[in-house]
Amino acid sequence: MVKAVVAGASGGIGQTEIYQDMPRADNGDKQPLSLLLKLSPLVDELALYDVVNTPGVATDLSHISSTAKVSGYLPKDDGGKAAFKDADIIVIPAGIPRKPGMTRDDLFKINAGIVKGLIELAADVAPNAFILVISNPVNSTVPIAAETLKAKGVFNPKKLFGVTTLDIVRAETFVAEIAGKKTGSELTIPVIGGHSGETIVPLFSKASSGITIPDDKYDALVNRVQFGGDEVVKAKDGAGSATLSMAFAGFRFAEKVLKAAKGEKGLVEPSFVYLPGVPGGEEIKEATGLDFFSAPVELGPNGVEKVTNPLTGITDKEKALVDVAIKGLKDNIEKGITFANTPA
Ligand code: NAD
Ligand code: LMR
Repeated sequence: MVKAVVAGASGGIGQTEIYQDMPRADNGDKQPLSLLLKLSPLVDELALYDVVNTPGVATDLSHISSTAKVSGYLPKDDGGKAAFKDADIIVIPAGIPRKPGMTRDDLFKINAGIVKGLIELAADVAPNAFILVISNPVNSTVPIAAETLKAKGVFNPKKLFGVTTLDIVRAETFVAEIAGKKTGSELTIPVIGGHSGETIVPLFSKASSGITIPDDKYDALVNRVQFGGDEVVKAKDGAGSATLSMAFAGFRFAEKVLKAAKGEKGLVEPSFVYLPGVPGGEEIKEATGLDFFSAPVELGPNGVEKVTNPLTGITDKEKALVDVAIKGLKDNIEKGITFANTPA
């Protein structure tokens, strides 16, 4: 029996909450990530947790005739504990999204505390769960999660993932457009580093099907992958950031984690992980000087089976991008660690 939890289940990756002056669609019945998990035969029980609207979202989803049994929880009456209890996988898209003009780091002030609180909850009642952090800034919220789990004595680095799949999905989509290829299994492109601006590094030289990017298109393509999130924020014009594509990406990653947990082999996806705690991580730590980095992760029954060093055999242009990414990541990671270890 697999229990999945979505924390932040009524949000824009479910499109509802209204934050201060941010005009959002008030339609709490749409939760694409929860919908995808509800439809998945890999999930038996789906618990939806949020500070608003989960009873409605859960009741609506519960009428769908797929396997998963759905329940909704609010913070009152220890709802968080009930939602998280004995979960196998916890996906966290809780927190505020960007408005035009903001960086992901601008979300730190609010989202850092939200993520810390949710991880404490997970540590207390679901210490063995796979934890997938979507909340931004991922480069800092994942270190916060790691430090919080360490402080609680239950940190298993093989089970903590920063979800960077949307960057890979974008790279695949944008390259397919240029190369006239089909997206999907025909084309996979590793995107490594972190999840914000110049910390996002697409490795087109390592594309699965020998893609060559014309020189005159390379810089613009890299820029589009690095700033794909901004493209959506701008287009939504104050109504939030990527939600539907994120739900697709979050589900793609969660599904791989669950399939690997059931024994399926050969499932690889880059993710932002704690290098010293995962097989293969030390080599990347040595090359980057960082404790956290998004690199291709081979998934297994217990989470990270191993990470592959993506930095070998890359082009000079890619090396230059990695150098810039490392600088940004260092600050983001330190900021998260400092926050997690500073008494409230
Ligand atoms: P949103 O504001 O629409 O939804 C967030 C939800 O979190 C709201 O329903 C809110 O009530 C809930 N929430 C707030 N505090 C909570 C708490 N303590 N416990 C439980 N729920 C809580 O935002 P969104 O569009 O869904 O985005 C959510 C986050 O995901 C943002 O930080 C955004 O930047 C991030 N994001 C990350 C990626 C990625 O690739 N990793 C992609 C898209 C969005
Ligand atoms: C994205 O990449 O779309 C997300 O991280 C949301 C954002 O703020 O851009």
